[in-house]
This record gives sequence, C-alpha cells and structure tokens, in this order.
Amino acid sequence: MCGIVGYVGGEVAAPIIVDGLRRLEYRGYDSAGIAVHDGESIQVVRALGKLKALSEALGDKPLAGRLGIGHTRWATHGRPSEENAHPHVAGGVAVVHNGIVENHIELRSELERNGVVFRSDTDTEIVAHLIHQALDGGAEDLLEAVRRGLSSVEGAYAIAVLSQHEPTKIVAARHGSPLVVGCGEDEMLCGSDIAALLSHTRDMVFLEDGDIAELSAGGLRIETLAGQVVERQSKRIDWSPVMAERGGYKHFMLKEIHEQPDAIAATLRGRLDLEHGDVYPAEIGITPEAATSLRRVYLVACGTSYHAALIGRYWIESLARVPCMVELGSELSNRDALYFDDDLVIAVSQSGETYDTIGAVSAAKEQGATLLAIANVLDSAIPRLSHGALYTRAGPEIGVASTKCFTAQLAALLMVAVYLGRRRGVLTEDQALEVLQALCEVPSQMNELLGDADYVRTVATHLTHATDVLFLGRGYHFPIALEGALKLKEISYAHAEGYAAGEMKHGPIALIEEGLPVVVVCPKNSSYDKTLGNVQEVRAREGTVIALATKGDEAMHDLAAQIIWLPDAPELVQPFLSVVPLQLLAYYVAARKGHDVDQPRNLAKTVTVE
Ligand code: G6P
Repeated sequence: MCGIVGYVGGEVAAPIIVDGLRRLEYRGYDSAGIAVHDGESIQVVRALGKLKALSEALGDKPLAGRLGIGHTRWATHGRPSEENAHPHVAGGVAVVHNGIVENHIELRSELERNGVVFRSDTDTEIVAHLIHQALDGGAEDLLEAVRRGLSSVEGAYAIAVLSQHEPTKIVAARHGSPLVVGCGEDEMLCGSDIAALLSHTRDMVFLEDGDIAELSAGGLRIETLAGQVVERQSKRIDWSPVMAERGGYKHFMLKEIHEQPDAIAATLRGRLDLEHGDVYPAEIGITPEAATSLRRVYLVACGTSYHAALIGRYWIESLARVPCMVELGSELSNRDALYFDDDLVIAVSQSGETYDTIGAVSAAKEQGATLLAIANVLDSAIPRLSHGALYTRAGPEIGVASTKCFTAQLAALLMVAVYLGRRRGVLTEDQALEVLQALCEVPSQMNELLGDADYVRTVATHLTHATDVLFLGRGYHFPIALEGALKLKEISYAHAEGYAAGEMKHGPIALIEEGLPVVVVCPKNSSYDKTLGNVQEVRAREGTVIALATKGDEAMHDLAAQIIWLPDAPELVQPFLSVVPLQLLAYYVAARKGHDVDQPRNLAKTVTVE
C-alpha cells in the first residue's frame, strides 16, 4: 500500500525520489506527490493517478532542492484525488504518511475547535497540523516537534517530515508500518522498503517501532518516542539493484515466474543435510524438545500465502504427524481463538507486513504460543515479532500477484515439516532423505516446465474471452486449484473459482454447461482415478476441459480439449510443479487482454490495513 521515499544529500532530490517511488509502485497506489525544500521554502507537486501524471506535473514545475520526501497513496481516508494526495502541508511542515491514525475523528474535531481549517479528508493532514502546532508551541527542533505531535496519535504509522525552518533534515518515525533508512555516502534516504533505496545503497538501518530518526547528509540520529538516543546497526543487504529490474521480460510477473527454480534453490541452500536426511534447525527457533512436545500447529496467512499454508498442512500432518490448522489472518483476528504454550503458530507472509496476519499471530503470542515467521522481506514486522524466522530467499518480488514467493514458501514449509518429523521420530533418516532429494529435484523439473511456456501461451488464447473459469484439484492440488483461480481473477479480472474436485458434485457441477472452461489439475498420484472421474463428469456435461496431466498419460488425450504436460514427480512435490502452468496461464490471458499485469486494478502488494 502507500509508499514513502525521502532523500537528503548532494544531488537534486526530485528525480531520486520519483525513481524510488517507481520502485514502490508495486505496493499499489492511486495518487502520488513530492515535497522538496529548495533552500528557501517547501515546494509541493501532487497528482492523481500513476507516477506518469506526477512526472508530467514535475515537468511543468521542476523542483530543484537537495532534500525532499515523496509518496504514493492508496486511498483509505478520503477518495483518490490531488487534494488528498500526500505530502500534506501545515504552516511550513510537510508530511508523508503510511498507515492509519485510529483516533483521527477526535483529533480532527479538536483541531477544528482550535481554528484549524483542513484542506483534505485525510488523517495525514492531522499529523501535519499536530507537528506544526508543536513547533509553534516552542519545540526546540523538528525532531522534538514530531515527538510531541505523535504523542497524541494512536494507530499504525510510518511518516517522513520536512520543515521550512530546517532545510537540511528529514525527520522520519515508525510505529507499526515499515520504514527503512538507507545510508549512502554523504546522503541519507528513507523508504517503505529496501527496493526503493537499493540503487543508492545496500547499507540499511531498519527502524524499530517507536523510533524517530533525524536524517541529514552527514548522518543519522535515532531517538525513541520517550526521548532516549538509540543505536541501530546498519545491515548490508545482499539483494542487488538488478534484481529489482525487469531484465528483458515484458513484466515483472513473467520474470518472477521464470525465477522460481532459482528462488527455490536459494531457499534450500545451506539448509539441508543430505548426509543425515535432515534440515538445519538454526533459524527455525523451535528447540528439539519443543518440536517433540508440540500439541498443534497453526498456519496463519492471507491471499496466496494462505494457499501455500494449505499445502504446508498436508506436509506437516503427514511428515510430522501433528494436528495442523490453517487460518486466514483476517478471520482469525475476528475470533476469540484459544492457544496453548505447546502450540506452534507459523505466520506465512511474503511481505512480512500484512496487517491481518500480524494481528492474528500477535494474539497467539500473547497467549504463550511459539511463533515462527516464514517471510521474504528481511527484518519485516512479522519476523521481528516472532521467536524464529525462516526467510525465503526469493529476492524482491515486484509483481503484485505473488508467484516466486509462493513456491519459495512451499520450500520453507516442506523443510519445517521435515524438521518436525525428524525431531518427533516420525521420519527415519532414509524417509527424510527421500523427501529432501525429491525437493532438490524441483528446480530442474521446474526449468523443464518453463521451457514449455510458449505452449501455455497458446492454451491461454482459449481463455481470453472467458468470463467464468472453474479450477479443480484434489489433495495437494486443491490449494493449487484455489491459487490458479486467484491468479486468473487477480490479473485478468475474469471470474474464476477454485474448488476441491471431490466437492464438484455438491455445487459447482450445476454451473457446467457447453463450453464452460474447467481447468483440472490431474497428475498421476494417489487420487488420480478419482480426479479423472471428475474430468469425465465435466466432459459429460459438455464443459471444456483443460487438463494438467503427467507426461505419458494417454487416457487424458480422449478427455481434455487442451493438455498441459507436467513432469513425472513424487506426489509430495507435485504442487511445486502444477502451479507453474497456472501462473503462466493467468499471465498470458491478462497480457493478451492488455492489462497492467504487475499492478492489477485495486490490488496492493503489501496490505498494511485491516
Ligand atoms: C496481497 C497481495 C497478495 C498476497 C497477500 C498476502 O493481497 O496482493 O499477493 O498474497 O497480500 O500478503 P503476504 O505479504 O502476507 O504474503
């Protein structure tokens, strides 16, 4: 959702800020703006719509200063418009903000009673007025004014602030929303995530909740909201700026689909013990004793990560023999759920910042459960909150529709299942070795599949005009059917539904009529015969079957209108492979329709609101 970029240093700030905002576009936004201090005053340019509109506005009014802040806004309070776009200015203070001021109604009426006239509907403008009032009220500098201003704000926020009177500083603060400081040579940057700053520096300081930072070209000073000076170590990031470029692909999503073999290999690297059929436990944060005495595992996630979690359940139940529940973060936070000290809660989140997931797992932690994060973004909120963090190493994922993070999450979940299975005495060394060897084969099998991407493109031509598509699968492939449908609906805007194949006769069969496209994931495995029965049922009602089948499955030839062949692989690792053609199918349908594949309408990559 909203993105923040700030720059102070020797270069002209505006182009650097706009470039940073471009790298945050994937988070989702509907307006953008920038404020620059030109040495005399603060100049603001804002525009409704995409960054192109902001760049055009900047073309008419170039901003020359070497200090500035910028923002991409995803509307929450107030419709998308130029007036509601950030930065918001109050008496020489300009503010950009990510998050929500929960007590905005009360603060706004109090300010209005004191004569403040608001120029926008946003909660952010309140923050600008509060900081301005603190400066007027005698705060000795901007940092102190931000501290005083924030003292009455409730909710989650990350902000960056400029003041007319201090033309060499940005003050930034975080509480609940991400904010990173990039430490360059004689320059400092801040941003909502590291992708925005990578082209300038790889040395990053991750602010903690309650930190207020003063950035100037010469240095960084961090204090807590309580006024205590704190030291935060900078970390060297091993993502290179090139990883956040399209690298010759038309869209990030297509590039990221093709990066999956590498993302999985990187996620496994150094973590498998192929001599003893085990995984290295260091980062998992679950002691062997805790693994043995586990009562239950909860997997908590949203969106695509939820589908990865659904597959994780099959592995955890069968390889570690421990009861496993999978929960949507947004629903779990609405329940008065009960946890025990011997519960393990695993939060699965590519961004590590999803508000609903954070809310749900925080409650579990408060009740004593052990928390493990599976996340792709280093030091993001969920890993910070957790007792252990197993990072997927997919590199930056820019396409809003998650692909490589999904399969990297699967790799992490399978490792956790093996770890638990070994500690709990369920898996012998040889059995674990068999699983891990199958997992190690996945990247090359995936490469083989990706080699057939052009064929999937031809299959996609049959779906370009489809308004409804049904996806069916069983066992591991039920969550894959859900994911295939989600991908198609996210980026092609067609109505798509994923269903457990066994449930077809309890409802969706009523939808099947001549020509309805039904994608059936039906590789050779223990449920093949049953799923083949569903294929026949669809055929009997004149639905058009697009089948995903194992190479050499002759029976499928007579039943399916289109067949996408999958490599023969052990059942346990099949979901890594069956998801790939479905990602490609969604991509090619959406690309053919001319959609903005990487930034589909209304969606955000990092959902930091409820
Ligand atoms: C958003 C994104 C999805 C993602 C979901 C959960 O809706 O558009 O791609 O799956 O959030 O995000 P997380 O970062 O927790 O995996």
